[in-house]
Amino acid sequence: MERSLSMELVRVTEAAALASSRWMGLGKKDEADGAATEAMRDVFDTIPMKGTVVIGEGEMDEAPMLYIGEKLGTGFGPRVDVAVDPLEGTNIVASGGWNALAVLAIADHGNLLHAPDMYMEKIAVGPEAVGKIDINASVYDNLMAVANAKGKNINDVVATVLNRPRHEKLIEEIRAAGARIKLINDGDVAGAINTAFDHTGVDILFGSGGAPEGVIAAVALKCLGGELQGKLLPQNDQELERCIKMGIKDPHQVLYMDDLVKGDDAIFAATGVTDGELLKGVQLKGDIGTTQSLVMRAKSGTVRFVDGRHSLNKKPNLVIK
Ligand code: FBP
Repeated sequence: MERSLSMELVRVTEAAALASSRWMGLGKKDEADGAATEAMRDVFDTIPMKGTVVIGEGEMDEAPMLYIGEKLGTGFGPRVDVAVDPLEGTNIVASGGWNALAVLAIADHGNLLHAPDMYMEKIAVGPEAVGKIDINASVYDNLMAVANAKGKNINDVVATVLNRPRHEKLIEEIRAAGARIKLINDGDVAGAINTAFDHTGVDILFGSGGAPEGVIAAVALKCLGGELQGKLLPQNDQELERCIKMGIKDPHQVLYMDDLVKGDDAIFAATGVTDGELLKGVQLKGDIGTTQSLVMRAKSGTVRFVDGRHSLNKKPNLVIK
């Protein structure tokens, strides 16, 4: 993959974030998502690559754009798999909450797990705790492993967990182990990425969320030298069949980093839509929109924070072709 693709791709998440930020706090999650999706789709047309969506807004007959199988890019350049989540945290934007992102990830063709839209149990950590966690081990053992790896006491460790009734037992176990918890209402991609940045104050992510989000977060952690382990959680026969179709015969099989994203190269880009621990959200004033993005490449390990100042009157549709 060309190195310059990273900087090109950040334009895609910037456009999605700028578009969906207009819907912040307006209680309309579908409109916020639709705006991000359209803007993302438009800018993809300008990116020099032969991309195919493997994780997107749904199957071809379910989504008008950015559907699985859709071809993206100019048709010239590297052949890549594309995973998109134009708005990660639709409810977050609708309610003007914390940590909504526009995100995408790419890898060489054939290297991203084509995760179906079902739940995945996840555990994620930053670089210091790589190789120390085990999704099959107890919550206590994982918390101890992270505490030891980071030179902390277990009661200094902070675990991020999606605030859902299905996580009641998990939350009890974390509390019983003596660790602290950051409950989030949505957005476990940010929750996973934040484990790799000390200043966010979180050490580990536990719990189930979307499988597509799991793959996208795994690309981010690959770039950051962190780790995510996952297990698909099919809820019915239909979802079980989808696992089997993907070549996963045992749904309890642990998906390690190399199962989620193969090879040594991948690119991840995210732009903050609303403020979060890691990225500032979009700010708008007249013709100016400001963005903050994170763009990273696994092969080089380069992590960039990119501040954008956009003249919205010069690109009213957020794209100049
Ligand atoms: P959306 O942006 O699609 O609303 O997803 C937000 C999210 O919180 C993800 O970060 C997470 O993986 C998933 O939803 C959790 O699903 P659920 O809300 O069903 O628990």
